[in-house]
Amino acid sequence: MDLDQDTDNGGRSCCSCCLSFIFTAGLTSLFLWLSLRPDKPKCSIEYFYVPALNKSLDAHSRLNTTLNFMVRLANPNRDQGIYYDDVHLSFSNTNSSVANYTVPRFYQGHKKKAKKWGQTLPVNNQTVSRAVLTNGSAVFRMDLKTRVRFKILFWKTKRYGIEVGADVEVNGDGVKAHKKGLKMKKSDSSIRLRSYFPICVLMNLLVLFVIR
Ligand SMILES: *[C@@H]1O[C@H](CO)[C@@H](O)[C@H](O)[C@H]1NC(C)=O
Ligand SMILES: *[C@@H]1O[C@H](CO)[C@@H](O)[C@H](O)[C@H]1NC(C)=O
Ligand SMILES: *[C@@H]1O[C@H](CO)[C@@H](O)[C@H](O)[C@H]1NC(C)=O
Ligand SMILES: *[C@@H]1O[C@H](CO)[C@@H](O)[C@H](O)[C@H]1NC(C)=O
Ligand SMILES: *[C@@H]1O[C@H](CO)[C@@H](O)[C@H](O)[C@H]1NC(C)=O
Ligand SMILES: *[C@@H]1O[C@H](CO)[C@@H](O)[C@H](O)[C@H]1NC(C)=O
Repeated sequence: MDLDQDTDNGGRSCCSCCLSFIFTAGLTSLFLWLSLRPDKPKCSIEYFYVPALNKSLDAHSRLNTTLNFMVRLANPNRDQGIYYDDVHLSFSNTNSSVANYTVPRFYQGHKKKAKKWGQTLPVNNQTVSRAVLTNGSAVFRMDLKTRVRFKILFWKTKRYGIEVGADVEVNGDGVKAHKKGLKMKKSDSSIRLRSYFPICVLMNLLVLFVIR
């Protein structure tokens, strides 16, 4: 009897030690997940100018159909850097593709903001004037597509796709109608970044229940 009791006790203390270890490990991974999960970069259009649509320019200068722009890419994360693949920008109006532009790949540190200025010439100069609506303003769709890897401590995550875009309204001066930066929002096909992180935590809890 006494012997039985002893082995039982020994078994229980080993088991509870084991359980508390698993519990601690679970809490630790939950904590790591909460503190290290990365947020996607925030993209916005800060500047947009088409000389051809600037009514104050003379006829000769208005032959300049270049699209001039600046996009801002901000890393909102405190602890993660971001490796961007080539950033593909595409400009279109309701019917057709107007122009494309590529920002070469780059790395961005914690909490950093990148301002990328660019200039691109439409293949067909007619597409610019055709974008002008009856009320005198023009609307261009600007889409951004890239893939990013996050640098978490010493390792890099896999690549996540980023696909965002916005409609830019251009006024009679050829510039973006709204003074404030224009936030680029994700299209439907965009990523669900956080989905895989809780899996570690779930696995831990599962192990906990199986052992019990
Ligand atoms: C539009 O053209 C006028 C006349 O040349 C110029 O003063 C103005 O700066 C231009 N607008 C922009 C946004 O550059
Ligand atoms: C567009 O291109 C054609 C031919 O290259 C040229 O004749 C025309 O003046 C251009 N129009 C504008 C608005 O630049
Ligand atoms: C067209 O306008 C842009 C922006 O003002 C300017 O940087 C560029 O040099 C102009 N291109 C030509 C060919 O004049
Ligand atoms: C821009 O790129 C897209 C996709 O690669 C292509 O379908 C489109 O024709 C390009 N547009 C121009 C104006 O080159
Ligand atoms: C779009 O296409 C339709 C028909 O093909 C045309 O009537 C219209 O002017 C086009 N609009 C633009 C902004 O290109
Ligand atoms: C012009 O019309 C477009 C489309 O209907 C609209 O989005 C835009 O706000 C209008 N612009 C002005 C200055 O009224």
